[in-house]
Amino acid sequence: MSQNPYYPMIPTILDVDPGVDDALAMLLALKAEALSVRGITVVSGNVPVDRGVRNALGLLDMFGFQDIPVYRGAGRPLVREPSHAPHVHGLDGMGDVEFTASKATPTGDSVDYLVEMLGLHRGELVVVALGPLTNLALAEARRPGVLRNALKLVIMGGCIRSAGNVTAVSEFNFYADPHAARAVMGAGAETLVVPLDVTGEVGIAGVEIRRLAAAHQTPGTRFLKAASSNALGFAATTTGTEAIKLHDPTAVAAAAWPELFDVERLWLDVEVQGEITAGQVVADLRPLLDPASRQGRPVSCCVGVQADVVLERIREMVVGF
Ligand code: RIB
Ligand code: CA
Repeated sequence: MSQNPYYPMIPTILDVDPGVDDALAMLLALKAEALSVRGITVVSGNVPVDRGVRNALGLLDMFGFQDIPVYRGAGRPLVREPSHAPHVHGLDGMGDVEFTASKATPTGDSVDYLVEMLGLHRGELVVVALGPLTNLALAEARRPGVLRNALKLVIMGGCIRSAGNVTAVSEFNFYADPHAARAVMGAGAETLVVPLDVTGEVGIAGVEIRRLAAAHQTPGTRFLKAASSNALGFAATTTGTEAIKLHDPTAVAAAAWPELFDVERLWLDVEVQGEITAGQVVADLRPLLDPASRQGRPVSCCVGVQADVVLERIREMVVGF
């Protein structure tokens, strides 16, 4: 990966639950000149954690980044029972198509790694969280204040003004572990939330994926076409539109190219008890004179995105790989 003298290479840790869009996000982060991926921590989410570790190791083999260490994290949420998403990502998390497993094994434990790295590199590391926030919450519980050592937490999760994707009001990562989401969002770290409100704007239709694969026979387009087939079918049967949303690559784009996003400071909290609202993000938009009397904690939240530019950069990365 070339060292571009014009971009500060931001040391980055990816926390993932691979998942097809996590896979594309990993590739984008590894290829983006603005980011220097130092390690990948895996968490239970789209698939059970051991399956996620297998997928992360296999993806790094496929992408040619075998030197990036992978860590095994939480196998279940803090309180709730595990939630997975085979209906979207396939039982194997990679679209249930041919996927070569790696012979490599995880280097260690995700929480150990997060605590160690954030303790050693204060103010230097960006952590891009693309799955349920269990690993980050466990790191904060083990070493209170450790998340505040991050240069920034970039979190794909939640929905503010848009509908949910796993319930009417909740997004999958926050729904799967709302207790962890509330703990991390309230940790006082420099935090950028990338909610469905903007990731839902960055989508690609099945017809475009097939056109791209026909026009450019590359490993990236072949992977995208094969791995997205399950998710495309699910979207077509549930929404009538054969397209996938590039949630996790959009969060990586927010870390690599923040200039492509509109950001507001919002007071956010996460519902943890609700029978039908668990994982819902509550934004306190009241025009109160005293911000301290608002619910939740202030975080930066993406509220707009130059979706076409982000999509073009993802497309370039897929074609170019
Ligand atoms: O709601 C979308 C998020 O949940 C993405 O990170 C996807 O990979 C799943 O983890
Ligand atoms: Ca994910």
